[in-house]
Amino acid sequence: MNRSPIGIFDSGIGGLTVARAIYDRLPHESTVYFGDTARVPYGPKSPETVRRYSREILDWLLAERVKAVVIACNTSTAHALEALREVSPVPVIGVIEPGARAAVAAAAGGTIGVIGTAGTIASNAYARAIRNRAPDARVEQQACPLFVPLVEEGWFEHPAARLIAAEYMAPLRDAGISALVLGCTHYPLLRPLLQEELGPGVMLIDSGAETAHVVEEVLRREGLAAEADATPEHRFVVSDDAARFRAVGSRFIGERLTEAEIVPLG
Ligand code: DGL
Repeated sequence: MNRSPIGIFDSGIGGLTVARAIYDRLPHESTVYFGDTARVPYGPKSPETVRRYSREILDWLLAERVKAVVIACNTSTAHALEALREVSPVPVIGVIEPGARAAVAAAAGGTIGVIGTAGTIASNAYARAIRNRAPDARVEQQACPLFVPLVEEGWFEHPAARLIAAEYMAPLRDAGISALVLGCTHYPLLRPLLQEELGPGVMLIDSGAETAHVVEEVLRREGLAAEADATPEHRFVVSDDAARFRAVGSRFIGERLTEAEIVPLG
């Protein structure tokens, strides 16, 4: 049994969707969330830069004595998971493998769609993870860089969001996908709109929610879970603009965020 917190990090606000899934799945675990709001977005940045930023955050979380680290950011998972695993003394869990695993199960041999930031899609990390499990899987990928700002603006059902979603979803619909991986922290908030665009026959996979299952498995396997009667504490730390994080973040986490500390990195 271990009462140390789980470290969760993201390029900014979006990882709160993953944090939410972890709170729901593991209600006795404490967490420290780090959002790199000074350097967001990671989506269009080079793999080297995203790896450097991710390493700095890992070091900060380890100094906070976390017992495991969850990379909530898909772009950071795509570029930095292996590098962080090589140096971390505690387990490091990314969002791509859990999303890929769920997609292979849901598609049952049908074509799998993957959407994400430009960096995640260019890395091919989802396609690789899917084909590791199902070598013959057909994968159709689509970068959706305009979704992140739309979601941060709260435009989940706005006509502009509909127009952009229709454009991005058209090639996936034409490919006849059976499942779609929401391969970015922000996309679960567009779920109703995407489901409408693709129709009820396409299963939408939330990588963050799938990751919470894997966190549970890893903690149990490594003997790191908190006691069943532990009272959790959740800390929020950002590298800049705590006020915006609290305001926009409340939408992501589904409750009011009242406190966020600032720790500038780099
Ligand atoms: N958190 C990022 C991801 O899941 C999206 C935002 C960004 O580009 O930094 O890929």
